[in-house]
Amino acid sequence: MDLLGLSYLGLDVTDVGAWRRFGTEVIGLMPAVLPPETESADLAYLKADDRQWRIALHAADTPGLRYAGFEVGSEAGFATAAESLLASGGWTRGTDAECAHRAVRDLVWAVDPSGVRVEVCWGPTRDGGFVSPAGVPRFVTGELGLGHFVVLTPDLDASLDFYAGTLGLRLSDYVIIGEGMSVQFLRCNARHHSVALTAVGPIAATHHIALEVDDIDQVGAALERATRAGHPITATLGRHKNDRMLSFYMRSPAGFEVEIGCDGRLVDERTWVVNHFTGGDDWGHHGLTGDSLAESVEAQ
Ligand SMILES: [Fe+2]
Repeated sequence: MDLLGLSYLGLDVTDVGAWRRFGTEVIGLMPAVLPPETESADLAYLKADDRQWRIALHAADTPGLRYAGFEVGSEAGFATAAESLLASGGWTRGTDAECAHRAVRDLVWAVDPSGVRVEVCWGPTRDGGFVSPAGVPRFVTGELGLGHFVVLTPDLDASLDFYAGTLGLRLSDYVIIGEGMSVQFLRCNARHHSVALTAVGPIAATHHIALEVDDIDQVGAALERATRAGHPITATLGRHKNDRMLSFYMRSPAGFEVEIGCDGRLVDERTWVVNHFTGGDDWGHHGLTGDSLAESVEAQ
């Protein structure tokens, strides 16, 4: 299976309007340009580039990642992937309505061991330019996909089997963060990771989603907008050891966190070595510890 990247995310949020304001005014995403009947008080869409939308917001009592879409590049590639996934058991063909909602040509889906609906799709819809309401020149997407997400899984082996074994994502490296606790970083393109799996006990939850911007000034500008708007900064500015991302984390209105960073390391498949890191950061990121992962989820 040759997944090209993270295509879209669907987020369960407790207040769609509040998250939409946070997404546009603080993160700098653009409201999607869609027929009016496709949005409501319970549903909103945000653009990050020339795709019709990249992040959907769904009203829900329990916040977290509702679904994540990964894409293949062609109908033939999708046919091969779908055949193998449907034969592996637990996978279902998307309905016409689901494909229309996701603005893709076709999809198959299954639920991962942490409860996230994972979709494999092809044929995304592009509807033109991106203009950030917060002045972000661009988000780093394209061949690297949308960004990444990090989930807490109660069964790390099952989650690794799902993402690496079934979907073919590749382990970039891992960090041991405590007794029986680790973070496993998986990629499907040159971005160091599109998914990270964290085991901190019997918890299934979303820790954060991350978007990349061009440079430190854009990270700083996002930090400034978050601070001025009063959103808690859950991890201070810092640089991760493994993906070299310079970033900060903030608590979104739904509870789960959003990381904004730059300088993400690109993987050269020919020379990459899977490393074990004994710590997460070169400097900074105060507030981001093994214990804080669980505490953050309890705060949701
Ligand atoms: Fe991250």
